[in-house]
Amino acid sequence: MKVLIVGAGGRCHAIALALSKSKYVSEIYCAPGNAGIAQIATLVPIKETDVEALKAFAIKQKIDLTVVGPEMALAAGIVDEFNAAGLKIFGPTKKAAEIETSKSYAKDLMKKYHIPTASYEVFTDYEKAINYVRGHSLPIVLKYDGLAAGKGVVIATTLEEAEETLKDMLIDEEFGSSSVVIEDYLEGPEFSFMCFVSNDKVYPMEVSQDHKRAYDNDLGPNTGGMGAYSGVPIINDSDKEYALKHIMEPTALALMAEGCPFKGVLYGGLMKTKDGIKVIEFNARFGDPETEVVLPKLKNDLFEVFCDIIDGNKVELTFDPMYYLGVVLASKGYPSSYEKGFLIEGLNDVNGIVYHMGTKEDGGKYYTNGGRVLIVVAKGKTLLEAQQNANLEVSKIKCNNLYHRTDIGHRSL
Ligand code: AMP
Ligand code: GLY
Repeated sequence: MKVLIVGAGGRCHAIALALSKSKYVSEIYCAPGNAGIAQIATLVPIKETDVEALKAFAIKQKIDLTVVGPEMALAAGIVDEFNAAGLKIFGPTKKAAEIETSKSYAKDLMKKYHIPTASYEVFTDYEKAINYVRGHSLPIVLKYDGLAAGKGVVIATTLEEAEETLKDMLIDEEFGSSSVVIEDYLEGPEFSFMCFVSNDKVYPMEVSQDHKRAYDNDLGPNTGGMGAYSGVPIINDSDKEYALKHIMEPTALALMAEGCPFKGVLYGGLMKTKDGIKVIEFNARFGDPETEVVLPKLKNDLFEVFCDIIDGNKVELTFDPMYYLGVVLASKGYPSSYEKGFLIEGLNDVNGIVYHMGTKEDGGKYYTNGGRVLIVVAKGKTLLEAQQNANLEVSKIKCNNLYHRTDIGHRSL
């Protein structure tokens, strides 16, 4: 079977590596991919949102299955277009993906179907929005109602900060013209719960936890994720059962009842608050960097899982009970400005998995080519052992312009 993966980062490298082990898969293409993915796939120079070009490629190459990584491709309607052309594709339709791409759609759906989440209101008018903030306690959470490349959520701790953010979002339309969701600030540990969903059927993967802040002890600016681990000791089996029965399954059913059944990976960004587990956000795809630590645990043939989800067949997932922990190596300066093109050495010395996030290859050597460059994943019988192993393997990578956290997993240790 020939597979096309749409996307470029570490998440797509993890999907590609898992598919390369499938007994069904003979050829993997990745558009646009990266230098690490090129070790196991043929790169195709098409942008992830260029749906027409991707469709033409899939038809010409007789691709048997396409797998979508990033939300931008879902929002561009890739699944609808491929389905209309009779091409097999793994991911939700544009309408179903609104659970990620529109915060107000997701919040209204949760309210209507009694799925636990923070109380909220939606605003398009600046004056009404700021009046609402004045009537509530701080901090308060302001969420731009659309895709904003990870910059659309502000936790305002002062009235001035709320005013400034709402001006940016509603008057100056910094991310485009849309509304803002204002919701209560919740507290507790966050975790990521990814499930394979096929209409009303929900198959949970192991939970994981992302680390958004740039530096150790969760200090510094927010990033796309500096590391993750799976096998999360602070989330027990009854938490997972609650999240499945009260959040993930009802959400799949709600989407069906609304006429937009979901097929793909539904990602619950959840928080364990003192009043129970609540939804912070939904994503309509695999998480990054969570996928890099969850897929290595999955023992199933991933190609088979994708096809069974699309076809509505029963799936039985099995997972390696070991803990998996991934440390991201990012360019110095990231998430602000950074330089590219630094030589990376020692990649072959690593005893574990190295997924590439942003690298380029030249004459058999690898160079930094993005903000997040690599993620090194190691395993252990305990979380602590996985952390120690990952940190040891990271130290084998030599480069003059990379930094990383040393405390991934600390919230469970
Ligand atoms: P989101 O893009 O919705 O995941 O929001 C980004 C981050 O903001 C989340 O990972 C949380 O850490 C934080 N956040 C979002 N909503 C809330 C909330 N209601 N209370 C506390 N923190 C929140
Ligand atoms: N790790 C968060 C996300 O994938 O959106």
